[in-house]
Amino acid sequence: MKIVIIGAGAMGGLFAARLAAAGEDVSVVDVWAEHVETIRTQGLILETGEGEVRTKPAAVTRVEDLAACAADLVIVFVKSGMTAAAARSAQTILGPVGRVLTLQNGLGNAEMIAEVFGADRVLAGTTAQGATLIGPGRIRHGGRGDTHIGRLTGPVDDFCREAAMILSRAGIPAIAEDAVQSLIWGKLVINVGINALTALLRFTNGQLNDHAETRELVKLAVAEAVQVAAASDVRLPYDNAVEKVLAVAAATAANRSSMLQDILRGRATEIDAINGALVREGVRLGVPTPVNATLTLLIKALEKQQGICG
Ligand code: PAF
Repeated sequence: MKIVIIGAGAMGGLFAARLAAAGEDVSVVDVWAEHVETIRTQGLILETGEGEVRTKPAAVTRVEDLAACAADLVIVFVKSGMTAAAARSAQTILGPVGRVLTLQNGLGNAEMIAEVFGADRVLAGTTAQGATLIGPGRIRHGGRGDTHIGRLTGPVDDFCREAAMILSRAGIPAIAEDAVQSLIWGKLVINVGINALTALLRFTNGQLNDHAETRELVKLAVAEAVQVAAASDVRLPYDNAVEKVLAVAAATAANRSSMLQDILRGRATEIDAINGALVREGVRLGVPTPVNATLTLLIKALEKQQGICG
């Protein structure tokens, strides 16, 4: 399978490194010229608990430079604010029966991609893998966990199963599944509980468990998310959402959440696709979400204070 990853930050870089190390034909596209140049000249280095893995996937800053590529699978790993643009740019590289997979955080990414390619060609899901972008050409593999992928519409098919198998073979255990919206909402609720709070407090994920106040804030934000999910008729993939979120925070204790990493790197966060999206869904469905509205405003104020343009 010819694979192109658009967005080679922490997660895109991790997937690229693992797939390239497994011998897959993988290319990356990223707007950060220094990162791309480093990958091209020195390779992409993945720091793991077992040592460094160095690979050299093809790397470009513009999708057009892969024009003749006819990819079988495009994996979108850009920040959610860039998803629509990434999907449009993928039009020039996706092969005639190729599909686009999103494992991004937040709501609405799969739907934006479907607007360009049609829902039949979209795979979506979640990953519990964790990674940090250390610098140009260098990614650190953090927490490990399962990746779940399914079709945006319809039950899993051979393509979906093959994509899951290729990821699993590359050391990213992946499962093909039917209930894609349940997966996406399941991850959304986790991000709602962890990301904004860790970014505001500059806490590692694990520190949320250390204080009664932060556990209470997680509980309040997550309770709203559970009510919005129920009003959307989405069944979450776990029974006790607060326990689940605190367990994920414990399992990824040393990690800096992606939102904290964005704030520390002076980049726009995914607040609009996470807590902000929940607030919008709440308004649509008549479910109050005051805690998430407050978290959204605080992150937006923080972005402005740091001169970050959303
Ligand atoms: O966005 C993130 O950082 C991750 O999705 C998660 C699960 C919160 C772990 O850091």
